[in-house]
Amino acid sequence: MIGLQPITIGLFLQQHVNKHSLSRIDLKALLAWATGLTQTQLITQSNRKLNSLELNQLEQAIQRRTQGEPLAYITNQKEFYSRTFYITPDVLVPRPETEELIDQVLTLLQAQPTAPYCIADIGCGSGVIGITLAAELPLSTVIAIDCSSKALQVAQQNAHQLKVHNIHFYLSNIFSYFETHTPTLQFDLIVSNPPYLAHNDPHLEQPELKHEPQIALTDQADGYSFYRQLAQESPKWLKNQGYLLIEHGYTQQQQILSYLEANHWGKTTPFTDLAGLPRMILAQK
Ligand SMILES: C[S@@+](CC[C@H](N)C(=O)[O-])C[C@H]1O[C@@H](n2cnc3c(N)ncnc32)[C@H](O)[C@@H]1O
Repeated sequence: MIGLQPITIGLFLQQHVNKHSLSRIDLKALLAWATGLTQTQLITQSNRKLNSLELNQLEQAIQRRTQGEPLAYITNQKEFYSRTFYITPDVLVPRPETEELIDQVLTLLQAQPTAPYCIADIGCGSGVIGITLAAELPLSTVIAIDCSSKALQVAQQNAHQLKVHNIHFYLSNIFSYFETHTPTLQFDLIVSNPPYLAHNDPHLEQPELKHEPQIALTDQADGYSFYRQLAQESPKWLKNQGYLLIEHGYTQQQQILSYLEANHWGKTTPFTDLAGLPRMILAQK
């Protein structure tokens, strides 16, 4: 596909940007990954020649990307809230809209940003939510759980790489670890971005989603089972006036609000994301 002749970064970009069904952004991200240069250095060093190792890596990476594999699985990294996370096919690729959950938490806790909060991240995946909250709220403690041991390994590696120590990881089916080991534990905040696609959701057929773990995408039911369980069981694990903050699919807000209402939650506040789509709910016990 790519002639392995010595070629400069600038020329490579020029030649390949229209050749594949790849965006210029993706191509530049792959160039940065293969060369170890920043986006700015790609411009300032556009006359630098790509060596044969870099060209080989780029050839394979472009092929994988054009077959629909997410960029984050090829480069093994993804930016989230200005930190670089290690990402493998064992975890969901973190989505930019999930950063807005972080904004909501920090706004919510802004009154006392340094208070020692106890926070649960249910379904932590790569750990982006829990690790970011632990890093932004260094006096707080985050308990992050996932039912996938492979995902937990990735999350633990991220906490280690990012030098975040006020987070602890447990293998658990939602609250089951706490039921067994810490039945009286209570959190100030439970945050979750659970799998929310129904088993027959057509989005699951999209090429990029086909590369992601099914267990991170769908509850294998109607897409609402985690919300029903969180609405029902979270109050037991929250202090009085504690919060539940959930991310959900953009068509699901009304139905989830009705589950919260049926379970007698105090105040519920629905939020839209930056694209204006209904995307999150904050509920107070
Ligand atoms: C949508 S992903 C979210 C990952 C990460 N929090 C994020 O926002 O990028 C959902 C996560 O929930 C986990 N999960 C699925 N079923 C679970 C269960 N029954 N108990 C705990 N975690 C579960 C999956 O392994 C996956 O990591």
